[in-house]
Amino acid sequence: MAPKTLKTETNGRVAIITLNRPEALNALNSELLAELSEALKRYDADEKIGAIVLTGSEKAFAAGADIKEMQNKDYVGAYLEDFFAGWGDVAATRKPVIAAVAGYALGGGCELAMMCDFIIAADSAKFGQPEITLGVIPGMGGTQRLTRAVGKSKAMDLCLTGRMMEAEEAERCGLVARVVPAAELKATAVKAAEKIASFSLPATMMAKEAVNRADEVTLNEGLRFERRLFHSLFATEDQKEGMGAFVEKRKAQFRHR
Ligand code: HXC
Repeated sequence: MAPKTLKTETNGRVAIITLNRPEALNALNSELLAELSEALKRYDADEKIGAIVLTGSEKAFAAGADIKEMQNKDYVGAYLEDFFAGWGDVAATRKPVIAAVAGYALGGGCELAMMCDFIIAADSAKFGQPEITLGVIPGMGGTQRLTRAVGKSKAMDLCLTGRMMEAEEAERCGLVARVVPAAELKATAVKAAEKIASFSLPATMMAKEAVNRADEVTLNEGLRFERRLFHSLFATEDQKEGMGAFVEKRKAQFRHR
């Protein structure tokens, strides 16, 4: 059955997922989570796909978790269903995922963008964690991933005041990898994804795994982990092809194996 809350398309080895609840500025409800999770798992398992772009509309990447859906929840119900735990599926995607953000990325929207591997923002993008204005706090990683991305002071500022941050400030503080004119957002993100997807898939997946490990372990553990993955890539055909092509002064043709 076609998803109702998002659109999916492929462009060569790139999959593009577009959040599509325009009536609610792409607010993240449980139906959207289920459909997004299904789409990401499908592309993760599809050997023809090498990278994924996740985007929203011109006005909103996502304006947060769906407030109307959660307003009447109670503590025991939220605890028993482990409300929001399902978003872990998004972060568990093993292939590279680029968030292409235009307009609002607030609350869960900002947290969803941070679950991706990097963020390319339109100059119209606005990031924030406004949960405090609703009487709650971020619940999908905002206090954790944001702090790791931008440091304590800026994360506190955003989580405690609920203010929005423009794209330029987001880039300056390291939340965003690049800012581009809004009209160029999708093309830029797809081009970056095409580039990633042209490389050896095991290498791009291991690069993602190793960078993510930096948030989890000590420097020495991380260095050891990186070295083990590096060693393991010498077991791939793509390492032979990549280095052979360099030496033979030709373009590498990775087989992604
Ligand atoms: C449900 C939402 C929504 C949301 C917008 N809408 N955000 N519905 N959940 N998070 C709906 C509005 O109700 C409205 O529907 C329609 O989208 C258009 O929104 P407007 O407010 O009319 O648009 P605008 O005036 O342009 O303002 C845009 C906005 C504002 C500044 C982004 O919508 C806003 O402040 N939204 C909420 C942002 C927020 O607080 N996000 C964090 C959510 S909590 P109708 O039908 O009324 O026209 C979260 C994590 C919670 O993400 C973690 C706690 C455990």
